[in-house]
Amino acid sequence: MPDRVLDEAARRRTFAVISHPDAGKSTLTEALALHARVLTSAGAVHGKGNRRGVTSDWLEMEQARGISITSAALQFEYRDTVINLLDTPGHADFSEDTYRVLAAVDSAVMLLDAAKGLEPQTLKLFDVCRHRGIPVLTFINKWDRPGRDPLDLCEELTQRIQLPPMPLTWPVGIAGAFDGVLDVREGGMVRYERTAGGATVAPEERLAGQQAHAEHGDEWQQATEESELVLADGGEFDYDRFLDGSATPLLFGAAMLNFGVRHLLDSLIELAPRPQPRLDTGQRPRELDAPFSAFVFKMQTGMDRAHRDQVAFARVCSGRFERGMTVTNARTGRAFATKYVQQVFGQERSTVDEAYPGDVIGLVNASALRVGDTLHDGKPSVRFPGLPSFAPGHFAVARPKDLGRAKQFRKGVEQLESEGVVQVLRSERRGEGTPIFAAVGPMQFEVAAHRLDAEFGVAIELDRLPYRTVRRLTDPAYRKVIESSRRGEVLTRTDGTDLALFTDEVALGALQRQHAGLAVTRLVAGAIEE
Ligand code: G4P
Repeated sequence: MPDRVLDEAARRRTFAVISHPDAGKSTLTEALALHARVLTSAGAVHGKGNRRGVTSDWLEMEQARGISITSAALQFEYRDTVINLLDTPGHADFSEDTYRVLAAVDSAVMLLDAAKGLEPQTLKLFDVCRHRGIPVLTFINKWDRPGRDPLDLCEELTQRIQLPPMPLTWPVGIAGAFDGVLDVREGGMVRYERTAGGATVAPEERLAGQQAHAEHGDEWQQATEESELVLADGGEFDYDRFLDGSATPLLFGAAMLNFGVRHLLDSLIELAPRPQPRLDTGQRPRELDAPFSAFVFKMQTGMDRAHRDQVAFARVCSGRFERGMTVTNARTGRAFATKYVQQVFGQERSTVDEAYPGDVIGLVNASALRVGDTLHDGKPSVRFPGLPSFAPGHFAVARPKDLGRAKQFRKGVEQLESEGVVQVLRSERRGEGTPIFAAVGPMQFEVAAHRLDAEFGVAIELDRLPYRTVRRLTDPAYRKVIESSRRGEVLTRTDGTDLALFTDEVALGALQRQHAGLAVTRLVAGAIEE
């Protein structure tokens, strides 16, 4: 059996697409799946327009805003490889969610709009990849539309994020007049043919260099010269530089027309790292063929309106998962039965009978689980490090409008916290009944309020607190000092961290001048807590 596990793990590629909203993530997801022929025609994954949506649109608010708040995983097979494509929330307010998803992947595809290049949300997500050492492939999308100069886009990668590109393909024709790509490694040109609405896999034709030159004259010449320029400037493909995150393989395409998508899939299969042993809390690697282990990176509730169930998404780290097995939750030591296990992508569900390292399983009836939990199958037991938090930058006191619903309120808050929808802070001074919600982005408050109302029947009031400066308090002795100064407040997060909140840096500075020993660690709101 261990051999089987190793073989299965070796054919997994688990990745996420990171991009700014509108760069074409849904379209690319659809195109990738189309290539793998899990879908008979493009349009079944996309949640927009009148196409049937598989994208997670279970939350009304999500639909209203047209953004994806929830995350799920799509699995498909391509050339004997199992691709696990994890969805990442697109909105900046949900970077904590995204961080958790990125903790469950082995590589990422950074998707850029040819006309826009690096955009704010892409930069933020890329930072997370760099921080976690996740290798990144770059796909420049929408080359069928007028856009920027390819050399200019390469320059931007090198200068702004110190991620020099290593082109695997180079576009033949400027953005807007896209015929095909120069295949840097194989040589020659891959020419694409348009299909009606990009609804089927775009037929490709391979042209030798000479023929490409004969038929695409100046454009071919330009593609050759430009790509050579980048290659000569340190852009030769180097596998180690990709793996250590110091350079990125670069491809061009148009997801909507399915141009370049096959190349991207092939590159993923060939280059993207396969699952590796994950380090446990003691920095020991959990070998892939050790007994089953997984960690929960995402919780989601109420996907099915008829049964408000809770699904925990867990990434398998070692061993073989078999539906029906009873696993142990390393945090509580309690058993967890896995009778119902699903693969969930939006509203589509299919039952999972077995899974291997790199796969994502959706565990149903998972109210006993929390984000960051480790699950394992008996001995030897294992616990993976929890997922780090993002420093919150927005704070609000939450209370139920109807005090008669205090019990439901408490239950709801506990639930939202276990899913990581908001962080929950408390202090003796404010009392148990009035928790403070803390968030990276204010939209998290809206989601929390909406869900408390819709799922727990508790309408809440949220009073925003004026704090903008946040620190971690390292010496609890100063709690009193801060609170009696009336310049700030100390609140304790459920994970035990004491957060000292101040209206601004001036308030903190004034206090520090009075109390030289005031021990606090700087946190950057919206960034990963070190
Ligand atoms: P997102 O998930 O990253 O937010 O982006 P999405 O795929 O929804 O794409 C955003 C818009 O960009 C869509 O247009 C989509 O059709 C378009 N698009 C994606 N890839 C390409 C491409 O390769 N070429 C061109 N020309 N357009 C592309 P929309 O008008 O907002 O939506 P729709 O009506 O087309 O669904």
